[in-house]
Amino acid sequence: MAWNGSAATAMAAALALLAVVAALRCDTAAAALPRLGHPAKSDGSLSLLVVGDWGRKGTYNQSRVADQMGKVGEKLNIDFVISTGDNFYDNGLKGVHDQAFEESFTDIYTAQSLQKPWYLVLGNHDYRGNVLAQLNPVLRKIDNRFICMRSFIVNAEFVDFFFVDTSPFQRKYWTHPGKHQYDWRGVAPRGKYIANLLENLDEAMKKSTAKWKIVVGHHTMRSVSDHGDTKELLKLLLPVLKEHGADFYINGHDHCLEHISSRDSPIQYFTSGGGSKAWRGVFQPNKDKLRFFYDGQGFMSLQLNQEKAQFVFYDVSGNILYQWTSSKTGHPQPSTYLDDEE
Ligand SMILES: *[C@@H]1O[C@H](CO)[C@@H](O)[C@H](O)[C@H]1NC(C)=O
Repeated sequence: MAWNGSAATAMAAALALLAVVAALRCDTAAAALPRLGHPAKSDGSLSLLVVGDWGRKGTYNQSRVADQMGKVGEKLNIDFVISTGDNFYDNGLKGVHDQAFEESFTDIYTAQSLQKPWYLVLGNHDYRGNVLAQLNPVLRKIDNRFICMRSFIVNAEFVDFFFVDTSPFQRKYWTHPGKHQYDWRGVAPRGKYIANLLENLDEAMKKSTAKWKIVVGHHTMRSVSDHGDTKELLKLLLPVLKEHGADFYINGHDHCLEHISSRDSPIQYFTSGGGSKAWRGVFQPNKDKLRFFYDGQGFMSLQLNQEKAQFVFYDVSGNILYQWTSSKTGHPQPSTYLDDEE
């Protein structure tokens, strides 16, 4: 059969239609969140560090924080590191060959104890660069620690970590980007992306049988520092966390260290955003219970077993600033909460 022009056109049209149908199905089927497994230690415990808002080529005390992370990481024999986002300032990565990847990550976090998987979410500054580059697994050929995805789950046996892509929630990045450009490829339109994400998260948290449920995002839910609370997250994300008995929400975005207890649920909020530039000098209290606030640089460790979760904050010199322990009594989490804020 002769391959004439109109047959070729028809074939191209059919293929294009198939591609559209496939894309639509992918979209609407709300594919489950990617899930990774990470083993706990043989004694049934887990140790990790949390750092956020860091990629500044070592400046603003980033290197000092990194050195202390190395020491604490060794002492606690950590299993992995969590980054709460804003991994590369000011504008994310330009491409997969951007030198900033080595200058701000590989060449900074050099300690032996930090040669573990890093699970990273994206921050708003990452969205100002080439997001697809920062999400590209090709980066693992340069440094195999770097595991960055938009929203995903890490199951560490008795703990489930739910990593949530929070930047798209912030409405002002869409409506008032100012001089910044956000790379919304694979995200826009906002409403549909958020609805899908929340549906996936709801599904995954509902199914989770882990003893501890920990949610990690870049943006604050509750914060007394510069950015303060993120209203969109309190309205859209928090109800899912309450519904499924999340224990902790861990974030960055504000360049400080904080622990705030919710007054209307058992949720504890931890900010670990002191990876480099800090000292904003802003304090704006909210209605929840502030337990700890440090405006300077530092990081957090978290040690867990079936019964206990211990949080510790450290400064640039490795001094312990604050520690807090949560215990599981074995009783099931209450499924409803007193809501005194409505
Ligand atoms: C580095 O940390 C020290 C100790 O907290 C602090 O005095 C200094 O201002 C920090 N430097 C910067 C650039 O933030």
